[in-house]
This record gives sequence, C-alpha cells and structure tokens, in this order.
Amino acid sequence: MSKVKHLIDPQDISLDEINELIQLGEEISNNPERYNNVCNGKILGTLFYEPSTRTRLSFESAMIRLGGQVIGFSEIGSSSIMKGESVPDTVRTIGSYVDIIAMRHPKEGAPKYASYFSPVPLINAGDGGHQHPTQTLTDLLTIHKVKGGFSNLTIGFCGDLKFGRTVHSLIKAMSRYTNISFILISPNELKVPNYIKTEILDKNNLKYIEVEKLEDLIQELDILYMTRVQKERFFNEADYIRLKDSYILDKSKMELAKKDLIVLHPLPRVNEISYEVDKDPRACYFMQVKYGMYARMALISKLLEVM
Ligand code: CP
Repeated sequence: MSKVKHLIDPQDISLDEINELIQLGEEISNNPERYNNVCNGKILGTLFYEPSTRTRLSFESAMIRLGGQVIGFSEIGSSSIMKGESVPDTVRTIGSYVDIIAMRHPKEGAPKYASYFSPVPLINAGDGGHQHPTQTLTDLLTIHKVKGGFSNLTIGFCGDLKFGRTVHSLIKAMSRYTNISFILISPNELKVPNYIKTEILDKNNLKYIEVEKLEDLIQELDILYMTRVQKERFFNEADYIRLKDSYILDKSKMELAKKDLIVLHPLPRVNEISYEVDKDPRACYFMQVKYGMYARMALISKLLEVM
C-alpha cells in the first residue's frame, strides 16, 4: 500500500488534524487573498464518474484560488473509461500528470481501491451511498463558524439516511465529540444502515433515537441536517415516488424549532426544504456551500504539505 496520505473516510484523519483543517479553513475564509499563491505550479486532477455541481466545482475553484491548475473529466463519456480502462489504470495514468486527485464514483469503495494505485494523494469526493468526507469538512467548518464548536449539541438528520453518504460521514465525525445526541428522522425504509449504528453509535455509547416524524422532535434540535431522497440509488422508481416527499421543511415547522437552530443541507435540494425557508436566518445551507470551497482549500494545502 502507498505511503502517500489519502482522504477516503472521515476517520482517516485524527481529531487534531480535523481541528487544524477547521482552523486553516477559517483563516482562509477570513483572508483568502493571503493564500493566492500557495499551490503555484501544482495541478489537481478531478475524476468524476458521477454527476456533481458543488463538489467538483468547489474543488476546482479551491485549487485555482490557491494558484494551482486543474485537469480532469466531469463525465466518463469523454475518457478512455469508455474503451474499458480500469480504475487502477486510470488513476496511475492521471497520477502521472497531477499532484493530487479528487475522485467521485458511484461504487462504494472505488476511491479506496483507487488509492492503492495512486502515486499522489487521492481524496474521496463521494462513493455511492457510502462516504463523502469533504462534505463532512464543509459541514464541520459551517458548524464551527455558526455554533463556535462541536460539543453539547443535539443534531437531527432527516430524510434519506440509508443512501445519504453525507449523513454517514457526518455521524462518524460528530461521534468523536463530547455530549452529542443524534435524532435520526426517516421513513422505515430509509433508516441509517446498521453498520453506522453498531460500529459507530453503539460502540461509542452515543445517545440516539430513530423517529419517523420531524414535527415531534424538531424543538429539541440545535442542528437540523436535511437530505434529499437519493433517486439515483433506488432500484424501483415506484418506491422513490412514494418516499420522495416524506419530509418538507416549511415555515410552520420552523416555528416549532429553537431560535438558534441551524438548518444544513449538503444540496442539491429537490423538494425537502420549501423556498420560503431560505429567508429564515437559521437557514445556513448556502453559507455551507461557500465554506465547502474554503474547507477544500485547506485540505488541498495540507495534503500537498504547502501549509
Ligand atoms: N453536496 C454535494 O456533494 O453536491 P454535488 O453532488 O453537487 O457535488
């Protein structure tokens, strides 16, 4: 296995490393111009086997803002993957051209497998319904900015907790802080996978409950993490149609919540947050989008050891 440092799972980085990344992300967000040249001469490769707006473009914007450059593909149709090239061969090839890789893939575990063959740091930019560690850094930076820290919080995850990789990664990350309670709000069919419960929540004696109705417990929450139902992971369209509007956060539900609640969403949104909620000062999901770029600037700088 390569000795190069990769980021595949939130638990690949220690709490100290997360704290350093959050601190650097904050510094960059306060003074982005100071970091304009730290990646001069470096190249990021973006290998996106699955669609993306925020992750790919924030990675690309992050590298350009650091003074580096970007090459890659945003869909496989223009690459030799169409001729049958494997993930290892693709990664070995692009790793010869670039200094760092961000890779999204629809198959769980593909970025981890790719990392065994990558001569440069490889970042998991989302693998199937599994993990999305840079969204987690984004979420942590936003929480830190707004709440000032990560302890003594009740966090509600609402929607598709089965396929929502951002949920799995954020539960892993938040489980490492003190006095965190989780309220897991989903239809029965979209509950958080068992491995998250047994290997993360139960193993660490964390407080959590699973409920189906958002209205019953929204008043308890410090953070509400909304998610869309992940259409692309369903085998059966009828099930998707039945479940897609299970939750719609609107003004009337927001009236039940704490005055200092924050609402996060990894985006894209489909129908699960009404547009009327966007005007509520507790809606932080577009702030979160911006912090995603700063979090990725911090991560690229650290993995390339230029900061
Ligand atoms: N949050 C997120 O991963 O968005 P994209 O799918 O647009 O990258």
